[in-house]
Amino acid sequence: HRHLLGIEQLRPDDITALLDLAEEYVSLNRGGHKHSDVLAGLTQINMFFENSTRTQASFELAGKRLGADVMNMAMQASSVKKGETLIDTALTLNAMHPDLLVVRHPHSGAVDLLAQKVNCAVLNAGDGRHEHPTQALLDALTIRRAKGRLHRLSIAICGDIAHSRVARSNIILLGKMENRIKLIGPPTLMPSEIEHFGVEVYDDMNEGLKDVDVVMMLRLQKERMDGGFIPSEREYYHRYGLDAEKLAHAKDDAIVMHPGPMNRGVEIDGDIADDINRSVIQEQVEMGVAVRMAAMDLLARNHKAQTA
Ligand code: CP
Repeated sequence: HRHLLGIEQLRPDDITALLDLAEEYVSLNRGGHKHSDVLAGLTQINMFFENSTRTQASFELAGKRLGADVMNMAMQASSVKKGETLIDTALTLNAMHPDLLVVRHPHSGAVDLLAQKVNCAVLNAGDGRHEHPTQALLDALTIRRAKGRLHRLSIAICGDIAHSRVARSNIILLGKMENRIKLIGPPTLMPSEIEHFGVEVYDDMNEGLKDVDVVMMLRLQKERMDGGFIPSEREYYHRYGLDAEKLAHAKDDAIVMHPGPMNRGVEIDGDIADDINRSVIQEQVEMGVAVRMAAMDLLARNHKAQTA
């Protein structure tokens, strides 16, 4: 592959190979000397047109730990504010000969479009409601480490599915790996194309969580509910927020996940998020660095092989 735009384009073998390489980077990151030179001499530019803590920080750390020259474009201070378009901005940066472009954008499809205009590898760091491939890959690595496998698991994805690129990428990835996927949430927050996903849909948390191995919670994304129905936080927490009572319906060893940022007391009880016996939320963040290192390593290797 030349780019990492979505999980849609990956085969199960690609996913397994990337996770296997990421495991090596987990070890490197836990060691005393967190440095390798696989991206030495390469330039990585991070362009975030939307806010980020985890994705931006981990892509930056990943590039630096692999020896790349990493530049973070401050998009708020860029000429985008003077009306320069996404494509003109990308072409301008492309003229500076980057090797890796990491892009987050509020519009679905914007990163795919940009990838067609530049010469370097493009990594999608989240585009609108479309895809967030590195999030799904880090979630997959977290699940595989906790459960010892990434197939034939029962996995609940709960909450605001309609606005979530995290849910979309996870549904595609976990489906490709032959897991049972249960989407739980209010009908108003289910995507319209749901019947194409090959998933089960529930409106009731207790029913949907029955005997699942993995409980993946999602943030209520009010910023994407332009003019649509916004549920009251209290009512939402009561019906769909993960608390001890609802979690008791899952398997005893079920893990709890959340991509972050979290709204404590809206989609998840703070004590559950902090329960180190159930919650793998901090491990998801840790896996994010390793997965992004693996993704950039593989794209750089492919590029080298194509130009050799
Ligand atoms: N999970 C995730 O994408 O978090 P950020 O928006 O902080 O990058």
